[in-house]
Amino acid sequence: MDLPRSFGIFGLLAMGMPMMSAADLVPDFSREILPILSDNCFQCHGPDANHREADLRLDLESNAKAPRDSYNIIDPGNSAGSELVYHITTDDEMDRMPPLDSIKSLSDDEKNLLTRWIDSGAEWGQHWSFDPIMRPAGKPYRLDCRRRITTRRLVAISGSGSGFTHSPGFTRFDWLATNS
Ligand code: HEC
Repeated sequence: MDLPRSFGIFGLLAMGMPMMSAADLVPDFSREILPILSDNCFQCHGPDANHREADLRLDLESNAKAPRDSYNIIDPGNSAGSELVYHITTDDEMDRMPPLDSIKSLSDDEKNLLTRWIDSGAEWGQHWSFDPIMRPAGKPYRLDCRRRITTRRLVAISGSGSGFTHSPGFTRFDWLATNS
């Protein structure tokens, strides 16, 4: 690429920026969405039946996504058709969630996250602390495989009249020892 030297890596990064704006990223349920719901909504739409309002549970996917008579609380992929988004964004103080007198409120960022999450399909998860602990991608094993295949090939070549020969004294047992 024929760019002036001073353009450098920062210039390239700047060029890439518009393609990676935060608004394009799908919010992560357990790290970004669940904390907003549990801090601001579960008090009245959570597990505690004594304080549950509007028969709505936002801690249960099945309840939050269940269609109601003529509307949806959460309609995955459709924030405009989701009552939840109406209630967190409306200017009507009577309808606004969380309610005025609850002393809780959502920031614009939080409203944005919830809206984008619904538009992106409202994928549900669980809190990350319940996720099984995963081995990181198994790389050492794969590297090990490649090394074995290479050694195996070399041994095959050396035995097929290619002009390569085993080191003197290298036996099948040595081969097994280095390859097992
Ligand atoms: C302090 C209690 C309280 C908190 C906190 C609260 N709500 Fe509500 N919510 C209510 C009440 C009460 C109603 C019923 C209002 C009515 O029927 O007029 C309601 C109704 C709703 C409805 C409409 C349900 C329907 O079937 O029409 C939605 C959606 C909703 N809340 C979402 C939320 C969300 C999202 C949060 C958190 C950001 C939240 N609420 C926090 C008390 C609360």
